[in-house]
Amino acid sequence: MSEKPETSYDFNQKHLLGLADYSREDILHVLEQAKYFREILDRPVPKVPTLRDKTIVNLFYENSTRTRLSFELAQKRMGADVVNFSTSSSSTKKGESLKDTIRNISSMKIDMVVVRHESPGVPHFLTRCVDAAILNAGDGAHEHPTQALLDMFTMQTIYPDLKGKKVAIIGDIAHSRVVRSNIIGLTKLGAKVVLCGPKTFMPVFVEDLGVEVSHNLDETLAWCDIAMALRIQLERQDEGTELFPSLREYHERFGIKLSHLDEYPDFTIMHPGPVNRGVEMESEVADSDRAVILDQVTNGVAVRMAILYLLSGGNRV
Ligand code: NCD
Repeated sequence: MSEKPETSYDFNQKHLLGLADYSREDILHVLEQAKYFREILDRPVPKVPTLRDKTIVNLFYENSTRTRLSFELAQKRMGADVVNFSTSSSSTKKGESLKDTIRNISSMKIDMVVVRHESPGVPHFLTRCVDAAILNAGDGAHEHPTQALLDMFTMQTIYPDLKGKKVAIIGDIAHSRVVRSNIIGLTKLGAKVVLCGPKTFMPVFVEDLGVEVSHNLDETLAWCDIAMALRIQLERQDEGTELFPSLREYHERFGIKLSHLDEYPDFTIMHPGPVNRGVEMESEVADSDRAVILDQVTNGVAVRMAILYLLSGGNRV
């Protein structure tokens, strides 16, 4: 394979703010490019010099383990100069506004900004403040596009064509940015999506999302090819307004158990992490060979390499 994948597709995006702005062809193109970077990760020296002239800042205003490490690793594997910013050690604590922070960072000649923030819309806002390419690494409960891309990439390793494939997403739907990006991406690729969880975890206009809703875990697991469990986002729920009686009761009704694996032998288990063992699923389920949770993490580096490559001007003539 040549160093940069050859392609005739004209990828015209400048940013990755959300999958809502990407067409089905854009999404398929990113996933196709990611296959090449996934191969690189298996080489003895998993590095390419593709971004060696680029400077990237990772701006994380919200906690993150996987996404931050994955972006940083992707950038370093491609030879970029990387600077990291996190709120705990920055002048945000001294009262500096987001706009001032980004303008100062930008005067240091940055090519790309990866941003995670608790407020929806921050990545869009940054596109109006600086000239760099902006990549959304999660904005509040709005979108988390690279997570959905890596989820779809992982699904494609099992089902190369996702058209007609049955994906169940189980858990705290209302507060999840992962589910929003996945619904947008999966429906563009023709997959069927069922959301499963307690009524109190469903967003208000759930019918408008082009998906079905179920409150019955057994029926959902019997139906699906893929079961993606989501963490309960306690940090995004108002204190004092309990949406379910207890974690134990949630697990009882909506947790995936070893007995489900015997009863429904066909579905594959996914989770964006972090997993709360004993809540979304029994610990043994997360470690079973039906779960591809760690593959998702590996694939995440390749998918982020692909999108960084494309947004850095790769493939644009
Ligand atoms: C998700 C997130 O931050 O939205 N995690 C991730 O990026 N891997 C999901 C979560 O926090 O539950």
